[in-house]
Amino acid sequence: MRRIVYPGTFDPITNGHIDLIERAARIFDQVVVAVAADTHKTPTFDTEQRVALAHETLAHLANVQVTAFSGLLVTFAKAADIGVIMRGLRAVSDFEFEFQLASMNRRMSPRIETLFMTPAEQYAFLSSSLVREVSRLGGDVSSFVPPQVRTALRQRFG
Ligand code: COA
Repeated sequence: MRRIVYPGTFDPITNGHIDLIERAARIFDQVVVAVAADTHKTPTFDTEQRVALAHETLAHLANVQVTAFSGLLVTFAKAADIGVIMRGLRAVSDFEFEFQLASMNRRMSPRIETLFMTPAEQYAFLSSSLVREVSRLGGDVSSFVPPQVRTALRQRFG
């Protein structure tokens, strides 16, 4: 069975993430969306909420599973017996960080490959922090996130 893990903070999950997951779900037998509990960021939504929102908004994809993980991503991938990590590249500016991440992961686990995918062009500018900011300042985020996430953002920011 071909399996891939898609790690991230998902604070919150956006249509851009979902676009990539749908693409991966067409190529791989199973996609594991891994929500990082240990992150250098201070998330707006706690791990449980980030997992729940991802879970609800990916329910239409039968071969996608959502789980939280803590510790190193490569340790999680090895324990789950997954040999491929997916990361998204939206623009050239993503490359440097992604290259570092992939190289460090390869140094730690040479058998795990990183696969890069690009989202549909209408999502190239999208990020979770921009969505949070637009929502916090009262803007309409309905074209950037699924309805469940929009509701959660409204509840969070009033
Ligand atoms: N659509 C919309 N937004 C996207 C996107 C897409 N297709 N792809 C990336 N993004 C955005 C995210 O929303 C996020 O935006 P934000 O920073 O404004 O909130 C940003 O791009 C990057 O987020 P994400 O892809 O979630 O990655 P991350 O940098 O938050 O997470 C981990 C990185 C969790 C994968 C990494 O820290 C990790 O592996 N941690 C585990 C510990 C570990 O192993 N560390 C050593 C690594 S070498």
